[in-house]
Amino acid sequence: MPDTTTALETPLPQRDLSHTPRRCLVLGATSGIAEATCLIWAAEGANLFLVGRSEEKLHAMAANLRVRGAAFVDFAVADLDRLEDHPSLLAHAVTQLGGLDVAYIAFGVLGDQPQAEKDAAHAQQILHTNLTAPVSMLTWLANFCVKQGRGTIAVLSSVAGDRGRKSNYVYGASKAGLTAFVDGLRNRVDREGVAVLTIKPGPVKTAMTAAMPGNEQFADANAVARDIAKAIAKGEGGVIYVPGKWRVIMAVVRAIPDSIFRKLNL
Ligand SMILES: NC(=O)c1ccc[n+]([C@@H]2O[C@H](COP(=O)([O-])OP(=O)(O)OC[C@H]3O[C@@H](n4cnc5c(N)ncnc54)[C@H](OP(=O)(O)O)[C@@H]3O)[C@@H](O)[C@H]2O)c1
Repeated sequence: MPDTTTALETPLPQRDLSHTPRRCLVLGATSGIAEATCLIWAAEGANLFLVGRSEEKLHAMAANLRVRGAAFVDFAVADLDRLEDHPSLLAHAVTQLGGLDVAYIAFGVLGDQPQAEKDAAHAQQILHTNLTAPVSMLTWLANFCVKQGRGTIAVLSSVAGDRGRKSNYVYGASKAGLTAFVDGLRNRVDREGVAVLTIKPGPVKTAMTAAMPGNEQFADANAVARDIAKAIAKGEGGVIYVPGKWRVIMAVVRAIPDSIFRKLNL
């Protein structure tokens, strides 16, 4: 894990943005779900700092968010698999934003399950992007928020982490690990004034699911983003399923006895 000491000691910024509603850091901002959430925040006049891999996409997104009403938009191009860059990247983002009210972790990869069954390096890559990299960022962000005594940290996990399925258990394992980490983190920092929200989407129509059969039935990213933005605005920690029906569906899926579950083609 990177040494976060220096970055945590980075002085808080001079720029006064206290008159504007919220300062949101979005990690994996070009994700379909994150972009839809940013559009809602832009309409509310938020300050946004976007982080993603594609300069071209970030450039276009930032221009659109400014037109849609964001008070401030800046971005950084970064491969978030590079753990060693996290402390300086996060410190830079917080400085540019003039503080931090909301950190939103949205990046992730689906991976290729059949390839991961043959090639452990691919399985490890999925675990690295979906679990190790968020853990690195969450450690820094949680310590920063505890130090300032407030903030909301929202994390996109998945219903896939609720039960291992043969069709996507590597991705599912990465999200199960993330869910457990975020649960524990919430219990650690809740009494320090920091809200930690676990978001578990069911299937959503984005680039990640574009090649999946039946994706026209998946939830709309804008509708999912509305539920997410509403939950984040409450400033309370907890676990939400989006759309909400997935809480019931996953309770049923978890209750299926293992002897039956292993015979199902899920
Ligand atoms: N869509 C669903 O059905 C669904 C369901 C449950 C949970 N989720 C979770 O929700 C989150 C957002 O997914 P989405 O549906 O919005 O998918 P998406 O549109 O494919 O977004 C994934 C994002 O992650 C970014 N990313 C991946 N690896 C990265 C890295 N190493 N460094 C920086 N950025 C990286 C991608 O960047 P590029 O644009 O550069 O590729 C992309 O912006 C993910 O964590 C996903 O697991 C999605």
